[in-house]
Amino acid sequence: DQTRQIAQTLAEFRLSKAQLLEVKKRMRTEIENGLGKKTHDSATVKMLPTYVRSTPDGTENGDFLALDLGGTNFRVLLVKIRSGKRRTVEMHNKIYAIPIEVMQGTGEELFDHIVHCISDFLDYMGMKSARLPLGFTFSFPCHQKSLDAGILVNWTKGFKCTDCEGEDVVELLREGIKRKEMEDGEFDLDVVAVVNDTVGTMMTCAYEEPTCEVGLIAGTGSNACYMEEMRNIETVEGNEGRMCVNMEWGAFGDNGCLDDIRTQYDCAVDENSLNEGKQRYEKMCSGMYLGEIVRNILIDLTKRGFLFRGKISETLKTRGIFETKFLSQIESDRLALLQVRAILQQLGLDSTCDDSIIVKEVCSTVSLRAAQICGAGMAGVVDKIRENRGLDHLDVTVGVDGTLYKLHPHFSRIFHQTVKELAPKCNVNFLLSEDGSGKGAALITAVGCRQRAQEA
Ligand code: BG6
Ligand code: GLC
Repeated sequence: DQTRQIAQTLAEFRLSKAQLLEVKKRMRTEIENGLGKKTHDSATVKMLPTYVRSTPDGTENGDFLALDLGGTNFRVLLVKIRSGKRRTVEMHNKIYAIPIEVMQGTGEELFDHIVHCISDFLDYMGMKSARLPLGFTFSFPCHQKSLDAGILVNWTKGFKCTDCEGEDVVELLREGIKRKEMEDGEFDLDVVAVVNDTVGTMMTCAYEEPTCEVGLIAGTGSNACYMEEMRNIETVEGNEGRMCVNMEWGAFGDNGCLDDIRTQYDCAVDENSLNEGKQRYEKMCSGMYLGEIVRNILIDLTKRGFLFRGKISETLKTRGIFETKFLSQIESDRLALLQVRAILQQLGLDSTCDDSIIVKEVCSTVSLRAAQICGAGMAGVVDKIRENRGLDHLDVTVGVDGTLYKLHPHFSRIFHQTVKELAPKCNVNFLLSEDGSGKGAALITAVGCRQRAQEA
């Protein structure tokens, strides 16, 4: 009976092919809403123009600084790109911590911290006085009217700094740079482009593989971008050529359109988050939240007496204990149950052998749904691209990055399989970004510098 009740609880997470096709179809509807002039303002999937009008062509050249903010790590990078017959890209980078007080403090503190890290990096590289063009990978939704300005729509994931929403983050960065200069003298940077991580990832991959016209992040957050026809982007003037659109698909479902597949556990995760009611799809399929869904199910199963001898420990009440790397370990097939118990022990959860079997099943159920709905969304995107081009069959490459995709033992496989099943007219090739999105940001910055020179 206990087994049956547990199975019943988990059954809510198992989606049929018909349900996944429905998710794909709804994503398509939201895409159209985000692109349409009349529907854009009220759309949940924002389909934000990026002013990136083409993928790299190999002529990009120069030395650039890049910032990479919004994923697991904050990085400052120096990227040296050489064009010509023997194209090369040389990268140096340093990872910096962003303390939680800064992630959730004031905007001024955040940008002072960022500028402090850039300054430290320049010291470290021995190039304090260089004034290099800078590309800013800022992995949050931004309204752009040009390459070098981005108004933060709202924070997502673990960030919540005051006085930033509604502001141009490039301006905020420039102000931080000015404050630093007033304090220490001699510090100047030229911010040329603000770039979403999906776009940076697409560009990084497109530099190696020209058929790459889609970017996906399955990491702390979840999002995608792709090259859309200008004629379809009604929020931007002009009908010629293409532009990359940052979908911000994490917000899919914020109008209630996924309510029929959301469970009580998804709702609990949402209620306990920094942004209640927002990013509902992301909360079902990205690394920052999967562990929280698992934890909420485990609490419920324990309350009902099926787990941990019915005792809810302080650990189990702690938010964020199941990070992506733990989930990935627990689900690893090479791991014996004894090792699963050891991991739970490490987390401070005393489990029996039966407990560990149940925990592992909960984890795999939650990550299976995540990979499937993420795949359903992607199937919607690639089919849209195929239809845009009037093709019966489309070959396309998706550039991918993110800890969930990279670390989890099953996510990527199930994701690929789902895309294949739900978009049978597309032959989709997936390319893992080995260089993060900083390289892509530098490539975009190179194009931005060239455009500026032409305009001058
Ligand atoms: C990295 C990118 O490689 O992937 C980041 O450079 C991005 O900008 C990240 O945010 C996404 O992964 P995660 O899992 O760190 O959020
Ligand atoms: C969140 C952000 C989005 C980003 C994604 C992946 O969804 O809003 O901009 O691309 O996380 O990092």
